[in-house]
Amino acid sequence: MADAILEVFRGDQDGGNTKQYTVPVSPGMVVLDAIHYIQGHLEPDLAVRWNCKAGKCGSCSAEVNGRPRLMCKTRMDALPLDKPITVFPMKTFPVIKDLVTDVSWNYMVNRKIPPFTPRANAKWKMYQEDVDRVQEFRKCIECFLCQNVCHVLREHKKKAEFGGPRFFVRTAGLEMHPLDGVSRAKLLKDQMGIGFCNITKCCTEVCPEEIHITDNAIIPLKERVVDEFYDPFLRLVAGGGRILRSVPAAGAQNTRRAQVRIEARQSWIANSRAFPQAESLKPWPRSSIIVT
Ligand code: SF4
Ligand code: SF4
Ligand code: FES
Repeated sequence: MADAILEVFRGDQDGGNTKQYTVPVSPGMVVLDAIHYIQGHLEPDLAVRWNCKAGKCGSCSAEVNGRPRLMCKTRMDALPLDKPITVFPMKTFPVIKDLVTDVSWNYMVNRKIPPFTPRANAKWKMYQEDVDRVQEFRKCIECFLCQNVCHVLREHKKKAEFGGPRFFVRTAGLEMHPLDGVSRAKLLKDQMGIGFCNITKCCTEVCPEEIHITDNAIIPLKERVVDEFYDPFLRLVAGGGRILRSVPAAGAQNTRRAQVRIEARQSWIANSRAFPQAESLKPWPRSSIIVT
């Protein structure tokens, strides 16, 4: 049986250092097993948070060989054993002790999001395609690995202005619910800072539940914010055609194009509001692509 050397962070909010431990590797072993071996045989005061050891509670998040992972889903035989395996706490959150971080900021963000609120007179009927669209978002185990890896939080430390990918996932699940009647677009724009996200997809890459965070949650939410706050054609419709009237005569062809787009947009809004199947007031295009 081979031995592995684990280089584990030991310390607290005042700082710390790494310490090396030699751990015998057995078949099927995961990094969390190795940490438990250290606790059981070498250093009983090593702090680690875990619950299920099955990739479902989201507690054992850490940075293994520099990559954010669940320790209980990271097999030792998938890691090179010819050099020490580094295990650090998540960098984005303050260390409490050793591998345990304080993730309570996430729960404060969560409290800002209005919960599911059914529309007045909602008919409680859902179609499978509506279920399929939001099902993916319900898989989140709140491991906060996506929050940890997102550069807006990790490098730029914008915890006051940015909600982070986990909470875009939650908001998307609510916003795309066909029976929900609350718009969270202003919250996304003003308090959750969705504009800071530049779609790098790092969050998607580390998600252990393989949620397509960027494609299926963030990008549609960005589109909704743009539609509600920055779409010049919607402003035109709302403003009684002021922009259209200001187009010079020489641009008659452009004016016609603009009219066609306005008509198409008006008809799309009207249809999405009266769409007989979804009974939804929200203009999610029925054809929106779900990445699988
Ligand atoms: S896609 Fe957006 S939310 Fe995800 S890691 Fe990149 S900047 Fe952060
Ligand atoms: S979206 Fe994925 S990475 Fe982010 S908290 Fe949920 S399960 Fe973890
Ligand atoms: S211990 Fe529950 S996800 Fe790892």
